Amino acid sequence: MAALGQCGAYADQLLIDAEKLVQTPEGLSDVEAAAIPVAAMTAWQVLQVADFDLSGRRVLIHGAAGGVGSFAVQFAKAAGAIVYATASTKSLPHVRALGADEVIDYRHQTLEHLTGDIDLVVDLVGAEVLDRSWMLLSPGGLLVSIAAPDVVSRAPQDRRAVFLSNRPDTALLAAIAEQVAAGVLRSTVAEVVGFYDLPSAIERNRTGHAPGKIVADFAR
Ligand SMILES: NC(=O)c1ccc[n+]([C@@H]2O[C@H](COP(=O)([O-])OP(=O)(O)OC[C@H]3O[C@@H](n4cnc5c(N)ncnc54)[C@H](OP(=O)(O)O)[C@@H]3O)[C@@H](O)[C@H]2O)c1
Repeated sequence: MAALGQCGAYADQLLIDAEKLVQTPEGLSDVEAAAIPVAAMTAWQVLQVADFDLSGRRVLIHGAAGGVGSFAVQFAKAAGAIVYATASTKSLPHVRALGADEVIDYRHQTLEHLTGDIDLVVDLVGAEVLDRSWMLLSPGGLLVSIAAPDVVSRAPQDRRAVFLSNRPDTALLAAIAEQVAAGVLRSTVAEVVGFYDLPSAIERNRTGHAPGKIVADFAR
């Protein structure tokens, strides 16, 4: 298993540097393995950017029901954070089951009660979600986005922000895959689609889908 980066994940065969591959742990199917690398490594690296001990800190994760968000909730909880998470109505039970302390329905609830309280905002959505987040940061708080490359230039003068691009890290991927295989971490597959379903699956990815990752399986 591997994160393919720019290789082109929709090819059914590709050449990849062997050093980028990790042995899929026993007990994980290829479909389960495919859902892990980009989502989990990005989630881990987002939380590392904060560079402070998350124990007892308030972390808000926007887009918590998605591939990256589902791992980010679990990593933040495991680090001892108090986790606030946003999701749509249908995804609330999924995000609660991952361990979030408070799950907020972004279509029907506001975030005003968190104003000035959040030590780390994890923005996995961008756009106006990002713009509404600045006021939530505590003094010294940090916002990390993976969805808005211009986040630093959009930050008000007194707010700290970082954009994160994930980096392949085989040691990290191997450790995470072992934890998923051992049942310590949950990896959620939203649906599995064959080659001919890819266009509609890509559209669902843009407009809303079941919690977790959509996996393409060309053997179908
Ligand atoms: N910079 C990087 O290295 C990097 C790496 C991976 C991904 N990304 C980007 O990061 C983003 C997230 O990736 P992903 O794989 O987790 O995508 P994903 O699986 O599609 O998840 C995004 C989630 O956001 C939720 N959402 C949509 N609108 C929202 C809103 N207004 N407020 C809160 N949640 C909302 C949706 O859940 P609901 O069902 O709850 O609506 C959806 O599940 C994508 O834009 C992706 O391209 C960047």
